[in-house]
Amino acid sequence: MTFANGDTENGVAKKPTKIKSGTAKYHLQTLKTVSNSLAHLLIGLVCIITLFFTFFDGVPVYMPNIHVALSILGYQFLMAEGILSLCPHNAWSAHLTLVHKKRIHWILQIMGSTLAIAGSAIYIEFKTVHWDTLHGQFGLVALVFTIASLINGLTSLYAYEFRKVIPGKLSKVTHIVFGTVAYAASSISLCYAFDKFFFKLFLHSEVTPLALMGFTGILTFIVMLNPTLACIDRLLR
Ligand code: HEM
Repeated sequence: MTFANGDTENGVAKKPTKIKSGTAKYHLQTLKTVSNSLAHLLIGLVCIITLFFTFFDGVPVYMPNIHVALSILGYQFLMAEGILSLCPHNAWSAHLTLVHKKRIHWILQIMGSTLAIAGSAIYIEFKTVHWDTLHGQFGLVALVFTIASLINGLTSLYAYEFRKVIPGKLSKVTHIVFGTVAYAASSISLCYAFDKFFFKLFLHSEVTPLALMGFTGILTFIVMLNPTLACIDRLLR
C-alpha cells in the first residue's frame, strides 16, 4: 500500500492507492522507500559520529568545536531533512498535505540555514587566513548558495506577490538549483573535514573517516535525487 504519485490534491492528501505487486511500479516504489530509509539511517550515523567528536569533552565551548556541531546539524541534519520533507515517498512526511509539507520544509530550511551560516561565520571569524583549504573553499560555496537559496526561498514562497520582480516559475527552479548546490557543496566540504588528521587521530582509524565519506556520498546522492528530477521536470515543462 502506498500513496499515489503526486500525493496531494489542492493541499488535501489523496487516499492511499494499492500498487499491484510484481509490477515495475511496485519495484520502483520499493526502491524509493528503501533508499529513503537508508538516507535517514546515514544522516543519523554521520551526524552522531561527528557530534560524538565535538561533544566528547562536554558541551562544546571552543569555537572550532562549535563550528563542527552547528555545521553538521545545520547542513546534514536540518537541511537534508528539509529537502527530504518534500519528497513524495519520504517516511515521516508522505501523509502530510502539500501545504503542511511546504510549511515544514521552510521551517527546517530556515533553522538549518541559520545554524549552518552561524557555524561557518564562527570559523571565518576564528581564522586569520581564509580559503586556503578545499574544505574551506567548498564551505564558502555552500555558504553563498545557502544565503542565495534562503532569499530565493522567500520569493518562491511568495511567488505571486513577487511576480513583478521575478517570474514564479523561474523563482522556483532557481530555488531548487541554489538549494541543491548548497547542500552538495556542504557534503564535499564535510568529506574534506573527515580527511583532517585530528579527526582520524580522534577515531584512531583511517578506515572510519573513509566510511563516513562513503556514507556522506550515498546520502547526498539520495537527498539530491528528488530535487534534481523535479528541476528537470519543471525545465522540460
Ligand atoms: C557541512 C559541514 C561543514 C562546512 C560547510 C564547513 C565550512 C567551513 C568553513 C566555511 C570554514 C572557514 C574556511 C576559511 O575561513 O578559510 C571552515 C573551517 C574549518 N573547518 Fe569546517 N565545515 C564543516 C564541517 C566541519 C567538520 C565536521 C570539521 C571537523 C571534523 C571541520 C573542521 C574545520 C577546520 C579544522 C577548519 C579550519 C581549517 C580549514 O579552513 O580547513 N569542519 N569550515
